[in-house]
Amino acid sequence: MAVAQRVEHQMTDKGYVPVYTTRVVEQPWDEYSPTDHDVWARLFRRQLQILPGRASPEFLDAQQAMGMGEAQIPKFTELNKVLGDTTGWQLIGVEGLLPELDFFDHLANRRFPVTWWIRKPEQMDYISEPDLFHDLFGHVPLLMNPVFADYMQAYGRGGVKAHGIGPDALVNLTRLYWYTVEFGLIRCAEGLRIYGAGIVSSKGESIYCLEDEAPNRIGFDLKRIMRTRYRIDTYQKTYFVIDDFEQLFEATRPDFTPYYAELATLPAFPAGGVQDSDKVYHRGSGKGWLNDGDV
Ligand code: PHE
Ligand code: FE
Repeated sequence: MAVAQRVEHQMTDKGYVPVYTTRVVEQPWDEYSPTDHDVWARLFRRQLQILPGRASPEFLDAQQAMGMGEAQIPKFTELNKVLGDTTGWQLIGVEGLLPELDFFDHLANRRFPVTWWIRKPEQMDYISEPDLFHDLFGHVPLLMNPVFADYMQAYGRGGVKAHGIGPDALVNLTRLYWYTVEFGLIRCAEGLRIYGAGIVSSKGESIYCLEDEAPNRIGFDLKRIMRTRYRIDTYQKTYFVIDDFEQLFEATRPDFTPYYAELATLPAFPAGGVQDSDKVYHRGSGKGWLNDGDV
């Protein structure tokens, strides 16, 4: 499929790197192959088998209310009707990762960018970049939840602001996204549950994050999270646990400008460290951890 491509530069931990980006594209639904639909069906079925009792009730309820099914890759136009009637969010198709400012601007306007293409059958267990399954199955259901929907929009607005402040502020804010939107856990009466999109879209990490002895599970603490490095190539060493989405929304309501200034004077924490002030649900054994590679 022809897509307009352009090169931009994005600040990362390794300095400015070129990113190949595309503008918004219409989901080329008719072009999905039988294999694409089958990959969707197998991933969908597999996650729905392991997520009950592991994913948060909010996620599972929203997932069901959205009406995604396993029979075929959902159409963005159909999901948009449901989302539009519920919280007013809209999905837009994209080729892949966007420049940060574009991404923030979409979120600030309640538009969620979804990668239109799906992984290949040999990538069922691991893929290094977001694809349709991660974006749609992982991120989109919680956009149905009113509090989470507002959090995502506020995050986008905060991102636009942090972008204007500078790269260090963006690093702080990106860590928050990582440890909440992507890899967050939530406490409920029966125990810890998953709400992070990076976890719910991964079979291995859905089990690991809750049941393995290795990772830390620590209570949510905004500035602590904004100081904490993370992993992009292994399961997380630490998961942070919120009490509910209201806690997340309330903690992030203040203007972060003074927080960024304060954090700029403090050293970062390693991904696997435990601090004295942490509320520890589980202290990880560290089994199987790689020593380097925190970003
Ligand atoms: N309140 C934050 C700020 O002023 C914005 C924000 C909201 C960031 C929600 C993250 C999540 O920057
Ligand atoms: Fe993601």
